[in-house]
Amino acid sequence: MLEKINNLLQQVEEFSVSNKEELEGYRIKWLSKKGEITSLFDDFKSVAPDLKREVGQRLNELKTKAQNKINELKEKYESTADNANAQQQDLTLPGDPSIQFGSRHPLSLVKNQIIEVFSRIGFTVSEGREIEDDWHNFSALNTPENHPARDMQDTFYVETNPDIVLRTQTSSVQVHIMENQKPPIRTISPGRVYRNEAISARAHCQFHQVEGLYIDEQVSFADLKQTLNFFAKELFGTETKIRMRPSYFPFTEPSAEVDISCTICKGEGCNVCKHTGWVEILGCGMVDPQVLENCKIDSKKYSGFAFGMGIERITMLKYRVKDLRLFFENDVRFLKQFSAE
Ligand code: DAH
Repeated sequence: MLEKINNLLQQVEEFSVSNKEELEGYRIKWLSKKGEITSLFDDFKSVAPDLKREVGQRLNELKTKAQNKINELKEKYESTADNANAQQQDLTLPGDPSIQFGSRHPLSLVKNQIIEVFSRIGFTVSEGREIEDDWHNFSALNTPENHPARDMQDTFYVETNPDIVLRTQTSSVQVHIMENQKPPIRTISPGRVYRNEAISARAHCQFHQVEGLYIDEQVSFADLKQTLNFFAKELFGTETKIRMRPSYFPFTEPSAEVDISCTICKGEGCNVCKHTGWVEILGCGMVDPQVLENCKIDSKKYSGFAFGMGIERITMLKYRVKDLRLFFENDVRFLKQFSAE
């Protein structure tokens, strides 16, 4: 058997091929299921025990050498084939007009616009995770178990582990950031969220939010108001006004909801603003000191504001889309209307 192995070793070292097919021939001859080297491994079982060590080593050496050489040659033939293909392409040919260009999804367009506006005033972009634990989605945000505020959001729980949820809000990213960074913090976090809601023209079980967070020494409500005022004018036009109404969120105190003057009737009153002249676009407030402490930030030294908005809602207002479901159906007749943006 040793002789056979040595013989094959020599063949492996010396063989050469002139094309891929020939190479495949050698691979089959030696290494396929019934190949010569493979069957030597079967014969190995009957080798006398005192020879097993030496024969085994040689046999392994043979197999590795054969495998390596075949792989090496294979790579060589594949890369020359790629080169040949590339050389056959005529790069001066005009484009194929039957290939249609895609366009950005309206939600991506608006997400990018929001990122652009906030990046101009120093906000970075951070991402969290869509599968979250209870602490980051609720408890750290002042919403412990059995807190009535949990009913504000219908949650998808993971069946086998009720501690794990599909995040219901991008506010969860706030917690990750505050746990891992030291103030000053100035960041926005766009992302997808999930709620167990019946699908309709105004609600969906998945949608997108952008969270904002600003933590530093002496951050005040006036800073929050100016930031959102700037944002509204940049996104909806300089004539846009904002108004703040007192509200409640478990993780901010005080909390507010922000309306903008109706972009459609300019405040005169129409169907979209239900004849009030105002439409709600986001929730916000001063980060509750308890939330800062939950994330190990000294609430005596630092304060901050947070806000959260739905990207679908803003997109519907900007582009006058009447049915939320359109964003998830991916009907090209709808999507291609945004190709000029
Ligand atoms: N997470 C809230 C929601 O989904 C929105 C929100 C409100 C976020 C106030 C905030 C905030 O950061 O301060 O309804």
